[in-house]
Amino acid sequence: MQLFLDTANIEHIRHGVRLGVITGVTTNPSLVSKEGKLDYRRLVQEICSVVPGPVSTEVLSQDVSGMVAEAKEVASWAKNVVVKIPASLEGVEATYRLARENVKVNFTLCFSVNQALLAAAAGAAFVSPFVGRLDDIGEDGMRLVKDIVEVFKNYPDSIKTEVIAASIRHPQHCIEAARAGAHIATVPYQVLTQMIQHPLTDIGIKRFLEDWQKVMGATANVKH
Ligand code: G3P
Repeated sequence: MQLFLDTANIEHIRHGVRLGVITGVTTNPSLVSKEGKLDYRRLVQEICSVVPGPVSTEVLSQDVSGMVAEAKEVASWAKNVVVKIPASLEGVEATYRLARENVKVNFTLCFSVNQALLAAAAGAAFVSPFVGRLDDIGEDGMRLVKDIVEVFKNYPDSIKTEVIAASIRHPQHCIEAARAGAHIATVPYQVLTQMIQHPLTDIGIKRFLEDWQKVMGATANVKH
């Protein structure tokens, strides 16, 4: 499973890429707004220059021609732009039109297998089931990821759409997304940092250093 960062914060993105584990980024209007009033084009181009893989940015238009025009404009800003299109009927048509013009679409705000099937049929490169938001209303968000992956696997020759487990809220979601067979999990920066944490690792590092220092009296075991 690949890991994308779900943020528009350039410092967090730089750090994730430096770690060598982040292959893409997803943003949305709420995440971009968190960064304050800014030059959107410049931000997208900066993110795209830092990130090796796809960078999703969302359209604001709700009608088909508006979505298509906006998507084409944003896609012209950098080679790795992917356009997020919402799961509406207008979104399906816009996805179909964009896919025919080789603009990659991330079909977003997906809350059902049927929406995912329509995304795939229209030619979306990615579909993003929102796990946390389904959990928020008492449903099993990860069940949706499992179901979409299972259904897509029945059509390996015709469905090339990749499943992005989105609206990830905690490290357990990452494990469950991988077990469900999601191609990608897009994680907030905080979740990325939580994924490495384990108290026994911290205790282990401390104990090894203390034992070494008791005998050797120095912290480094090689001269440098
Ligand atoms: O990738 C979608 C994500 O940004 C939504 O997350 O936590 O607002 O439901 P959340």
